[in-house]
Amino acid sequence: MDHTFDILVIGSGAAGLALALKLAPQASVALLSKDGLSAGSTSRAQGGIAAVLAEGDSIDSHIADTLEAGAGLCDPEAVRFIAENGPRAVNFLIELGVPFSRSGGVEEGYAYHLTREGGHSHRRIIHVEDATGRAVQETLEARAREAGNITIFENHVAIDLITDRHLAKNASGENGSGAGGNQCHGAYVLDIASGGVEAFMARATVLATGGASKVYLYTTNPDGSTGDGIAMAWRAGCRVANMEFNQFHPTCLFHPDAKSFLLTEALRGEGAHLLLPDGERFMKRFDKRGELAPRDIVARAMDHEMKRLGLDCVYLDISHKNPDFIIGHFPNIYRRCREFGFDITRERVPVVPAAHYTCGGVMTDLSGRADINRLYLIGEAAHSGLHGANRMASNSLLECLVMADAAAADITRRLNSLPGNAKARAWDESRVTDSDEEVVVSHNWDEMRRFMWDYVGIVRTDKRLERAQRRVDMLAGEIHDYYRNFRVTADLLELRNLVTIADLIIRSAAARPESRGLHYNKDHPDLLPVARNTILTPEITSGEHIRPN
Ligand code: FAD
Ligand code: SIN
Repeated sequence: MDHTFDILVIGSGAAGLALALKLAPQASVALLSKDGLSAGSTSRAQGGIAAVLAEGDSIDSHIADTLEAGAGLCDPEAVRFIAENGPRAVNFLIELGVPFSRSGGVEEGYAYHLTREGGHSHRRIIHVEDATGRAVQETLEARAREAGNITIFENHVAIDLITDRHLAKNASGENGSGAGGNQCHGAYVLDIASGGVEAFMARATVLATGGASKVYLYTTNPDGSTGDGIAMAWRAGCRVANMEFNQFHPTCLFHPDAKSFLLTEALRGEGAHLLLPDGERFMKRFDKRGELAPRDIVARAMDHEMKRLGLDCVYLDISHKNPDFIIGHFPNIYRRCREFGFDITRERVPVVPAAHYTCGGVMTDLSGRADINRLYLIGEAAHSGLHGANRMASNSLLECLVMADAAAADITRRLNSLPGNAKARAWDESRVTDSDEEVVVSHNWDEMRRFMWDYVGIVRTDKRLERAQRRVDMLAGEIHDYYRNFRVTADLLELRNLVTIADLIIRSAAARPESRGLHYNKDHPDLLPVARNTILTPEITSGEHIRPN
């Protein structure tokens, strides 16, 4: 059965939910998540949301810090737009009921507590204890479930965007929308429960599908961070920018069962030290800001020390602070670390870096519009220009909220003039069979994530990038063959997207003969005199990726 809505929102993290809520009063909205609604990165966010809320802080200071962390590649207009709209975005959440932490009890009228993180020159991170994302997700989700005009589809995986070439032919034998330019009409979507593929048609389609850090072996992200929206938009003809800038978070718990559990940067913001096994506080040797240098510098310093000394990990230590303060500010981390046998009020804990955030993405303007008409991207999947070569901590949730608001305003303005009556060709499964070799999917998945970690990780070289490109070319061929021959499953779709993401990352990294921000190449350790974005443009040469015939 096909579905028709005014707006199709793919993704139910901070970006997708905020946008759906803003559009619901004036439009019918389909909200899709490939898993449960809260399975994205948003509900894992710990530190908080950066916004200028304190006396003594200023928008200009937030802008200056963001530009500095971004190492010459932020778009100043995007940075100003997002920083200026930060306080309004936080108010939106407060009005919806997000219970941000205060410096004391609400009843005594205490102000919101603001913490610090790397790169920020002021206290400007508003948070809910050490589990901000969970509170934001739960609040937005509850409001979305109450909103009359939002129809929620969980366990629905978007496969590909429906553009002009997927439309059914009209009476005169044409399949274009007739509206000029390439248009997005919706998406083909796999319903996991039934195994069927349906067309979701809409006047405007919004990809809010999150990042792609699952392309690396070790990551703080949930399993679904497979870059689906970036890969879908790329296949449909959108440009991507700066995919080489993959952020590695410095402090994940080093424990075989912890699955890279994050120890928030706010721990360092509140005074935690990074230590070598002999107790040396080494960060000052790398940057005068010590533990509060931006993440690229801290992760690289840790990687350097671990390789120099042959270590498996370094240590994070906040045990010199008052135990009540630690448990009060970081109750979830305290509890979780206890489960793994560490008491952070009494001892240091082992930490390693892990892939955390995709700074690049699909190019958009400041209303979230992508290269294809009626297609929007917001949140981690988009490249709005905010982050440049390195995202500053807690600027991501901020970007999700501000860009959701901007895209909603743009869509609302255009809504009545957007066509909504196109018909897509039916999904064609006549030439595929059920897979009899699922092992190919799991093997290729493991192999790719391992070579991305080894060759395209925190430190890169030309040779490693060449090796990675050879391997990804081979895997891409195998995976696309597999996709053409077998019925789609959620795992196969994610693998197909991940191999595209790996290819985009490697090609972007190879195209940058310098070291800047998160991209460090030993063969090119210096900065080029001019900072340039790496922009890749897809070639739409054939219908190779189009399943319906
Ligand atoms: P997500 O929240 O990741 O949501 C993506 C959604 O898209 C999900 O609903 C998923 O099911 C859906 N989806 C994906 N593909 C498909 C598909 N093919 N079909 C259907 N649905 C699909 N940032 C901060 O600013 N502050 C922090 O304190 C902070 N802490 C973090 C801590 C951790 C452990 C992690 C992992 C990230 C943290 N970040 C933080 C980053 C921030 O959480 C993310 O960048 C942000 O939440 C991304 O939001 P999003 O809405 O773009 O995507
Ligand atoms: C953290 O709490 O350290 C994560 C913050 C972020 O990624 O912005």
